[in-house]
Amino acid sequence: MKQNPTEHFDQAAASWDKKQHRVRLAHDIATAIAHLPINQEMTAMDYGCGTGLVGLALAPKLKWLTGVDTSKGMLTIFAKKAAKLSENNVSTRLLDLALAPSPEQFDLVICSMTLHHIEKVDKVLTEFFAALNPDGYLAVADLDEEDGSYHDQDAGEEHYGFDRRKMKRKLADIGFRNIHFQTVHAIDKSVDGEQKSFPIFLVTARKSCQN
Ligand SMILES: C[S@@+](CC[C@H](N)C(=O)[O-])C[C@H]1O[C@@H](n2cnc3c(N)ncnc32)[C@H](O)[C@@H]1O
Repeated sequence: MKQNPTEHFDQAAASWDKKQHRVRLAHDIATAIAHLPINQEMTAMDYGCGTGLVGLALAPKLKWLTGVDTSKGMLTIFAKKAAKLSENNVSTRLLDLALAPSPEQFDLVICSMTLHHIEKVDKVLTEFFAALNPDGYLAVADLDEEDGSYHDQDAGEEHYGFDRRKMKRKLADIGFRNIHFQTVHAIDKSVDGEQKSFPIFLVTARKSCQN
């Protein structure tokens, strides 16, 4: 039977950071996002923040970071780690953007390795747009389209990665501009005795004031 994805992440939260491949992946994603012109005047939402491997690495470069997730277990770990940072500029929010809009506006929205767990991708991307201030930045990292062999246990995947061209069209239709893709990491895995590489893209875009 398919496990409730929130339960899966609640249970996984305490030991999430012990997997070195997750730490390495998040490091590469955060490093690429740090190349955006972010600064300490900016507020950010990390949607599907998990334990904060990406968001908390960027928090010192920002004015404020809000970690948003649907898993209380993940948010508890995120908050514990945030409390150890010297900056006191992080908060958490339990929220599903498919069900309710963000009550706050941000200059940057991050979403790392979460979109493939979300059924209503179009709705959530539209909510990212709505949650951004004019000229705000979007940074979404996820798997390129794959055949379903990436996840060896069912953790509530709704999509087997994403096709970059379709994603670009989706973002443009919503109103994003300056849409750029880059490959930031590749996860090598043995699948049924065969070595496979799963590339991870980062797409960055902007909520432009101009149409
Ligand atoms: C694979 S983890 C990624 C965590 C973190 N962003 C990172 O890169 O290390 C996916 C996260 O998305 C959260 N999540 C799953 N579905 C979600 C949804 N519909 N809305 C918000 N968060 C969700 C999970 O609870 C989990 O923390």
